[in-house]
Amino acid sequence: MSGIFITFEGIEYCGKSTQSLLLVERLKKNGYDVIYTREPGGTNIGEEIRKVLLDTQNSDMNDLTELLLYIASRVQHVYEVIQPALLENKIVICDRFMDATIAYQGYARGLNLELINKLQKMVIRDIVPDLTLLLDITPEQGILRAVNKKLDRIEKENIEFHSLVRHGYLQIAEQEPERVKVIDGGKDVDDVHQMICECVDTKQRCMR
Ligand code: TMP
Repeated sequence: MSGIFITFEGIEYCGKSTQSLLLVERLKKNGYDVIYTREPGGTNIGEEIRKVLLDTQNSDMNDLTELLLYIASRVQHVYEVIQPALLENKIVICDRFMDATIAYQGYARGLNLELINKLQKMVIRDIVPDLTLLLDITPEQGILRAVNKKLDRIEKENIEFHSLVRHGYLQIAEQEPERVKVIDGGKDVDDVHQMICECVDTKQRCMR
């Protein structure tokens, strides 16, 4: 696999969607073949699963159902989009991937981390991100950014839930410092973009 796989992660309103698109723009300007995709979603089937997962009407969803739906979306995404793009030497920028499942379903919902890791290994095998950019903000900062926004089923969870998600992400970063780079998402958009570009440039140099 000779492409580069970069993922963005973080709690709600950390700015990863804005930042991932800025990175895509910059890489395209520099002549790279880049695709931007997201989870849950990224395929027709995945986008249908996304609707079910985020629909506020589905407030009675079982935690295990939730986990399996995220994993189902990932299976389709890996085989239909990510793996083929990497085989064609593209840079894949993905808004959320496997770490979100560990942080949200593992640390925040409290599902067994070993079970999650086993399931994920089965699905993604060696399709592990080369670089993960974790945009770190506090849930309080997230709430300020969420004012006047229509919240989905997961965003509606309470502040304790979002604190656990953040804790989960920081734990992953501590365990895998080579892959996961923590970036202060509270800084302004240009500064965050600059920090991200530095991480990506370093990774590209290392992979040459
Ligand atoms: P988004 O807000 O980044 O579009 O992601 C949709 C929501 O899905 C977000 O609240 C995080 C959540 N999520 C999980 O709980 N587990 C996962 O594995 C993924 C990919 C997302």
